[in-house]
Amino acid sequence: MSIADTERPVITSILRAMPASSLRAYVSRTLPDCSPIVVSNRAPHEPKPEGGFKRGAGGVITGLLTLADAMGADWIAVARTDAERKLATDSVGPMHLPLLQSNGSLHLVSPTREQYEMYYSVFANPVLWFIQHYLWDLANEPVIDERIHQAWREGYVEVNRQVAARVVEVGRVAPRRPLVLVHDYQLYLVPRLVRQALPSAMIQHFVHVPWPTPQYWKILPKHMRDAILEGVLGCDVIGFQSSLDVRNFLLTCEENAGLQVDERERAVLFGGRVVYARHYPISVDVSATSRLAGSRGVKRLEREITTWRPPKLIVRIDRTDPSKNIVRGFISYDKLLRYHPELRGQIQFWAFLQPSRQDVAVYSRYLRTIRQTVGRINSEFGTDEWLPIRLEIGESERKAMAALRNFDVLLVNPVYDGLNLVVKEGALVNQTKGVIVLSENAGAHEELHAHVLSVNPFDVEATAAAMHAGLTMGPDERKHLNDGAREVVRTNDIARWISRQVQDIRELVVTAQVPVAP
Ligand code: G6P
Repeated sequence: MSIADTERPVITSILRAMPASSLRAYVSRTLPDCSPIVVSNRAPHEPKPEGGFKRGAGGVITGLLTLADAMGADWIAVARTDAERKLATDSVGPMHLPLLQSNGSLHLVSPTREQYEMYYSVFANPVLWFIQHYLWDLANEPVIDERIHQAWREGYVEVNRQVAARVVEVGRVAPRRPLVLVHDYQLYLVPRLVRQALPSAMIQHFVHVPWPTPQYWKILPKHMRDAILEGVLGCDVIGFQSSLDVRNFLLTCEENAGLQVDERERAVLFGGRVVYARHYPISVDVSATSRLAGSRGVKRLEREITTWRPPKLIVRIDRTDPSKNIVRGFISYDKLLRYHPELRGQIQFWAFLQPSRQDVAVYSRYLRTIRQTVGRINSEFGTDEWLPIRLEIGESERKAMAALRNFDVLLVNPVYDGLNLVVKEGALVNQTKGVIVLSENAGAHEELHAHVLSVNPFDVEATAAAMHAGLTMGPDERKHLNDGAREVVRTNDIARWISRQVQDIRELVVTAQVPVAP
């Protein structure tokens, strides 16, 4: 039985209340004849120095864990550190995934340290990530020299080739038709390589980051951008975070590769096959996140917060990534304190930041700039009794939850962001009728714009004004915004993210493909 469009909202609202086991049953009923394989750069769990494993960092991994669990998938990831490379060499065959209830296995692909560095620290992050978040100062950067050309050839292309080879190996012995679910910008070349070796595999790539305009892709030399586009076009369905990403993708196919695109069908004709582009905004696991937010550990941290917090609290939680726009956030706060001196001593900006990609020079410089900016503001405005900005660099899910439960204003002002899960977590768990100040360039803005104060992330004056509006808003209006945002997250939860993809794979791929209209 196929699932008609009109039935979708009903199914989704049932799934909303579904525990993980029912979601699993739903997935295996909808896609009964396939062997799912999740593919990502990061592994879902990482070896700890003291032994045992911890969950891999980042919101994407959290989402993928739910996906892999619901699908009962095997998982292929890249060994990133010496410890992971050792694990890959020591283990005979695939490893059990301890964080999953299903019995999928982990297969670690192990490029050399040099190959990984060229792939991750020279190409994927400083070049691709910067393109996909519009981060270049184009008058000066990037300078695409031999270092980048070499990193493309011997790093990005090579690691993608190794990952694809492992997918093919696992797919060949899979008991049913492989359903390959590739994730993010690190692995754009995998779908095409897998398609060549396993023509009947069902392949989806999910792009977690923004898809920029065709002109911006032209920063990359033609052979690189063509390989990336043709790489993902090995898929049956390409998933994005927002409808704008889908439109930009279709336009890129048309403009940069001269391909035939059907905008109504949101499909591209490539090599005689139809490739569909769809958007599925990722979300949080509502019950797991709420459970964590209400846990004893979080409550203990909240009690600590009451010992130091002034009457008003602005919170931000981010990786120290230039795309997150952390420095402009502090400049806006500086303005807030200048224009509203009555707030001094009454407010604190708590920035809880997770160090990120510190082996990439531009990222370590960015963290230094963050520290310097905070130092300047604190020494200019601070007193013996009052610290304007509380900067904490570290990683703790519990502390993040405690902060999100207690903000008066949550600042999420990325330059550009694929979706941004912090804003969804904040909307879900906040207990203080906090107001969200959200960049109009975050993917989540498409769903949440009616329930937040929207800002242009470059406009530090407007951001200061929005923070002030949030801090001074009446309780009814705060509650109204807060309730609306929470309801959006409860409705568009992680089960919906998964079920919509599963439905599309069934409807667009399992059933025969029809060519797009000329
Ligand atoms: C973003 C990317 C993910 C990545 C995560 C953490 O969310 O979309 O693909 O895993 O950042 O970054 P890292 O480079 O530390 O894996």
